[in-house]
Amino acid sequence: IRRITVPQIAQRKGGEPIVSLTSYHAHTAAIVDRYADFILVGDSLGMVMHGMESTVGVSLELMIMHGKAVVRGTQRALVVVDMPFGTYEESPSVAFRNAAQIMKETQCGAVKLEGGERMAETIRFLTERGIPVMAHIGLTPQSTHVMGGFKTQGRDEASWDRHEQDARAVAEAGAFAVVLEGMVEPLAARITKAISIPTIGIGASAECDGQILVLEDMLGLNPTPPKFVKVYGGLGDAIENAVRSYAEDVRTRAFPGEAQVYQVKTPKA
Ligand code: KIV
Ligand code: NA
Repeated sequence: IRRITVPQIAQRKGGEPIVSLTSYHAHTAAIVDRYADFILVGDSLGMVMHGMESTVGVSLELMIMHGKAVVRGTQRALVVVDMPFGTYEESPSVAFRNAAQIMKETQCGAVKLEGGERMAETIRFLTERGIPVMAHIGLTPQSTHVMGGFKTQGRDEASWDRHEQDARAVAEAGAFAVVLEGMVEPLAARITKAISIPTIGIGASAECDGQILVLEDMLGLNPTPPKFVKVYGGLGDAIENAVRSYAEDVRTRAFPGEAQVYQVKTPKA
């Protein structure tokens, strides 16, 4: 089965909203694959799957490992893999080498990287050489140490021109879509109107051309989700209840029961 392609996503500008979620793991990705247009293997996996405090510690190898799992587990959605901190900022050629390794080893359809105007040259270098790039501007978590935390962008109107310039630069450089993270609604609206590629919002209002959330956040696994998350599932409670019941059953010898126990073969009379 042919997957949704990069040009198909790009052509959705201004049309039916683009649906996306993150996935890091084959079984959850297989479910998301039935509903999403693209699946992002986000470097948020460092925090969600591996308990890191930020995404800064995520390695290329870790992204490739989870990227492979998600590609194997899916057949329909475009799979986009995040380039982790330190693997693309230095130069276009370093970025190409690492992006090519991600694409070859995972068989994903595109990569994503953080940064606006400053990354435009690299985005052009990659797309001209066969690597589709999704950009990511606004709140860029890999810069958390410079920003002093995860800070909502555009609260001060004076910064809007700079953010719009970032969006124009990545679109002009050939990015096929751009994630707008953590920004006020009028800024997201202004950027979405200003550029010809789809904007994918996370904490950036319904003004965007599509939406993405971290799967575990919307499933209710994150005990302290950000304001922009709508929690659609009760997975945290479901897991808690299941684990509590199991512990009780083991302690009272209710588990394993008859149905879970192997018996010796009794010869027929
Ligand atoms: O890493 C991630 O999950 C992301 C999305 C939330 C956009 O970059
Ligand atoms: Na990310």
